[in-house]
Amino acid sequence: MATVSSDLSGRRILLIISGGIAAYKALDLIRRLRDTGADVRCILTSGGAQFITPLSVAALSENKVHTDIFSLTDESEMGHIRLARDCDLVLIAPASANIIGRAAHGLADDLAGTVLLATDKPIMIAPAMNPVMWENKAVQENLGILKKRGYTLLSPGAGDMACGETGTGRLAEVPDIVKAVSAFFLQGGPLKGLKALVTSGPTYEPLDPVRFIGNRSSGKQGHAIAEALALAGAHVTLVAGPVKEPVPRLVHAVHVQTAQEMLDACLKALPVDIAVCAAAVADYRPEETSDTKIKKTGKEPMTVKLVQNPDILATLSQSNRRPKLVIGFAAETNDGLENAKKKLANKGCDWLVLNDVSGGKVFGQDSNIVTLLQKNGAGVSADTWPEKDKKEVARDLVAQIAASFK
Ligand code: PMT
Repeated sequence: MATVSSDLSGRRILLIISGGIAAYKALDLIRRLRDTGADVRCILTSGGAQFITPLSVAALSENKVHTDIFSLTDESEMGHIRLARDCDLVLIAPASANIIGRAAHGLADDLAGTVLLATDKPIMIAPAMNPVMWENKAVQENLGILKKRGYTLLSPGAGDMACGETGTGRLAEVPDIVKAVSAFFLQGGPLKGLKALVTSGPTYEPLDPVRFIGNRSSGKQGHAIAEALALAGAHVTLVAGPVKEPVPRLVHAVHVQTAQEMLDACLKALPVDIAVCAAAVADYRPEETSDTKIKKTGKEPMTVKLVQNPDILATLSQSNRRPKLVIGFAAETNDGLENAKKKLANKGCDWLVLNDVSGGKVFGQDSNIVTLLQKNGAGVSADTWPEKDKKEVARDLVAQIAASFK
């Protein structure tokens, strides 16, 4: 079975922190990068050290902080050339107008400038500065030079600035920088270049502005699959019903409420190579949705007429833009294998992941026991996995997907 890396363990990032108020965000960035398992070494420029201390950088990175090109001890322990090469990626965040200008013109009058000239590794740059400075032609032309030389730009965002002005120049959000770094490292994953679509969570079918028909799906299983696919290098669109689960890193999420909205979002995401339908989609919706809150009438029984929702899995499986591999789920309370085999045949998907939800099991839980059904020739194979964390189920499923695309 192919294995799929789930983190950045062992990846070495050289983070250059230059001067600017956004330098304080570099402290959070170090923590988040380390959360992925990456080893983070830092260069703090003299400008950066006006805003944060080498001690906080060292404490968070758990590595020595490099500040001075002319430090005798630093040079004897690890020379600047080795520092420049002994990493997998150089990340400048925040990058001030000054470091952008000096890098563009090859100035090497401090450790950061020297390392940028001496490195043979890819460089990512996340600028942060006042909006007027950002728009200044000199800064834009310097950035143009760096982009031409292969630097990857993590564009600044727009909003209120610490200087009191509003515009573009805020450091890209820390989670987005971490996503970009992860994406860079995962470009070589087994699903590189492939597109995947995942549905996850419940759908809510409204009765009136305050009530709906829904179910207990938490999105844990579907979201874990979306993340595992992304970590394997696929470009993933996650179409998620209303859930509390955070959007997994590296994944593009579309949030929907109803089955019809979920179907529309899925069709919009086509073409894709892989589709995994893990959402618990309501089979029926109220025929009518009241614009105002339905009042108690005192009459019994109160009836709600339901009409059938579109079947997303079947629609994708039978589409003329059908993904190469379509995987459905089956949530069964009884006669699981028999029902799952019928679903596999009727819906037209290639594989089906059966889970036993009798007594409310699986919904919202962290683990799952699944049986993977796969069409092979005229027959169907069924493989039951031992109970695993949903993230592990996701990783093993993605390993099977990767093997099938080999
Ligand atoms: O979200 P969690 O709390 O982690 O729980 C995970 C889960 C139990 C929701 C998940 O593992 C699961 O089983 N998802 C499928 C739930 C379901 O709706 O099963 P089903 O047997 O009713 O549907 C069969 C398949 O058709 C599913 O792939 C479903 O997404 C799809 N379907 C169903 C109805 C519909 N209108 N459109 C669909 O696409």
